[in-house]
Amino acid sequence: MRILGIETSCDDSAAAVVEDDRILANVISSQAIHQDYGGVVPEYASRAHLRLLPAVMKSALRQAQVQLSELDGIAVTYGPGLAGSVLVGLNVAKSLALALELPWVGVNHLEGHIFANFLIPDSPTFPFLCLIVSGGHTQLVIVEAEECYRTIGRTIDDAAGEAFDKVARVLGFGYPGGPAVARLAESGDPQRVTFPRAMMEEDNFDFSFSGLKTAVLYYVRALSEDEVQRQLSDIAASFQAAVVDVLVRKTIAAAEKYELPTICLAGGVAANKALRQALAAEAAARGCRLHVPPPVLCTDNGAMIARAGISHLQRGRRSSDELRAEPALTLGFDETSTPEPYQRCTQR
Ligand code: KG4
Ligand code: ZN
Repeated sequence: MRILGIETSCDDSAAAVVEDDRILANVISSQAIHQDYGGVVPEYASRAHLRLLPAVMKSALRQAQVQLSELDGIAVTYGPGLAGSVLVGLNVAKSLALALELPWVGVNHLEGHIFANFLIPDSPTFPFLCLIVSGGHTQLVIVEAEECYRTIGRTIDDAAGEAFDKVARVLGFGYPGGPAVARLAESGDPQRVTFPRAMMEEDNFDFSFSGLKTAVLYYVRALSEDEVQRQLSDIAASFQAAVVDVLVRKTIAAAEKYELPTICLAGGVAANKALRQALAAEAAARGCRLHVPPPVLCTDNGAMIARAGISHLQRGRRSSDELRAEPALTLGFDETSTPEPYQRCTQR
């Protein structure tokens, strides 16, 4: 099955052509316009998608050497994300499917992130635990089977990526700051400053990163400008170590509690080398298998949406023209808000 995947939920205009679990093309245009504003400006993002998406799709089809007439279907993100941004991709997909008389399916962006793990040679086997860490989300999900998701923990305030972006701003970097903080951290001392690790002792799988971000802000404010510059890489490394510590500790505890020997990483922050290495070491020490997509498949891309779409279309799912953009879409069954029996998920 050969699918065009379209992703426009935030500030990346992305399209990909995927055939079964093989990526034929994966084109991403990251919108530069937001750098000057220290974060994504929703109105600019949707306008930029309108401008960029046609060229991105053409380029994906050209690279894949696939004609529109050779597609078997279309998959597109319908949420969660910025309403205007999601709308652009969704309406392009609907129109294209109508014109080409193709089946199409709306994909949950978070599910797309999970499915990036099915685009790598060694795909995970069900059930597995997935840590989704992105700019908008941080959650631990048990993936019982395809389309069967059980969220067991989530951030109660900032997402991990959001914390990276905010700390980057405090340290004087533009948006998105995650990669800049990570680069800086590589040459820093992670033990120089002991930043707080929130909710480590709590008997749940929720996260909180807002206090950590504030702690970094206060630490920096107490230093002179020269001292900040001298300590820059140490602050970045110490902050990163706090985020990684919490993410790894909670993920491993969840894998142990639910007896899940397979762990997957997903979302933009999964591109972080320190997180990948720390989780790999802890997983290996407990005999767990860790799957991590390459960085380009961790951050937003069309290939992960196409791959999730292939799974849906193969199972006979089709979206109708009634499907609306859902900016606040959640993933599957959320155990953190309504404690209900596990079976509810497995019966689907
Ligand atoms: O999944 P994603 O591309 O978009 C959302 O769905 O939010 O994630 C973007 C987030 C941003 O916050 C970005 O700063 C962060 O992922 N990020 C990183 C790294 N690469 C991207 N954070 C830490 N280290 C990285 N190497
Ligand atoms: Zn994302």
